[in-house]
Amino acid sequence: MEKLKGKVAIITGGASGIGEATARLFAKNGARAVVIADIQDELGKNLSVSIGSNCCTYIHCDVTNEAQIKSLVDRTIEIYGQLDIMFSNAGMVSISNQIVVDLDMDQFDHLFAVNVRGMAACIKHAARSMVEKKVKGTIICTASVIGRQAVLQQTDYCMSKHAVIALMKSASKQLGKHGIRVNSVSPFAVATPLMCNMLEKEAAEVEKIYRPMSSLKDVVLKVEDIAEAVLFLAAGESGFITGHDLVVDGGFSI
Ligand SMILES: NC(=O)c1ccc[n+]([C@@H]2O[C@H](COP(=O)([O-])OP(=O)(O)OC[C@H]3O[C@@H](n4cnc5c(N)ncnc54)[C@H](O)[C@@H]3O)[C@@H](O)[C@H]2O)c1
Repeated sequence: MEKLKGKVAIITGGASGIGEATARLFAKNGARAVVIADIQDELGKNLSVSIGSNCCTYIHCDVTNEAQIKSLVDRTIEIYGQLDIMFSNAGMVSISNQIVVDLDMDQFDHLFAVNVRGMAACIKHAARSMVEKKVKGTIICTASVIGRQAVLQQTDYCMSKHAVIALMKSASKQLGKHGIRVNSVSPFAVATPLMCNMLEKEAAEVEKIYRPMSSLKDVVLKVEDIAEAVLFLAAGESGFITGHDLVVDGGFSI
């Protein structure tokens, strides 16, 4: 249970869903510090208290604002001395159907500002601090199974997750010379607030819809399963893995 002993991690979108589960798992695995970064301040603060203020802090950070990302990383270094792990996870789905002929370009721009530009800025500032401090850190991005497929709606979301995988691969090539590993996780549908709000359904109903789509009989994807994949990519066990997109989908996409 001490896979991250002494490590300092930032988790964007850490107040809810996959980010929350990962924050809890990182703390359980001995991380010296878990910094939860989000725009849902009350949720984030409550979570940091529930994990324990000895190892967990909440910092407000809107990933569409590069200055806030820089300040998040600077504050982390100021408090804890270094940054070992950046889990760049904050994301949103399309607000309307966003089929090609009806694309709302303002919505498109906002989604890209969060899912793509925000992800790139998180990697940029985390990597800069790791290079400067000579930390052989790890960076993990949340992509999606949709980042490898075509879709009938949510075109901008699908495009954004393809972009995350391209970003992760390019960053891994560029940062390898500093000993920094960059990978991503690509979850299948999991019943987080993001998914439940999008479908306007309770978690149990969401799980009922998606359960038959995986190859695994009677297994339901939970946020904890994705957190375990992130932990693997963050910890020493994956020391020779970089530029890899770890799909967590119960065989859905094969
Ligand atoms: N739930 C799924 O089925 C699923 C599947 C594949 C990929 N994903 C991806 O997983 C990631 C996490 O989503 P989740 O399902 O846990 O949803 P969630 O809504 O529970 O968590 C997302 C978090 O990101 C935060 N966030 C949104 N915009 C932000 C911004 N501008 N700055 C900082 N934080 C911001 C939200 O406040 C929220 O706490 C997202 O990148 C999402 O695209 C989710």
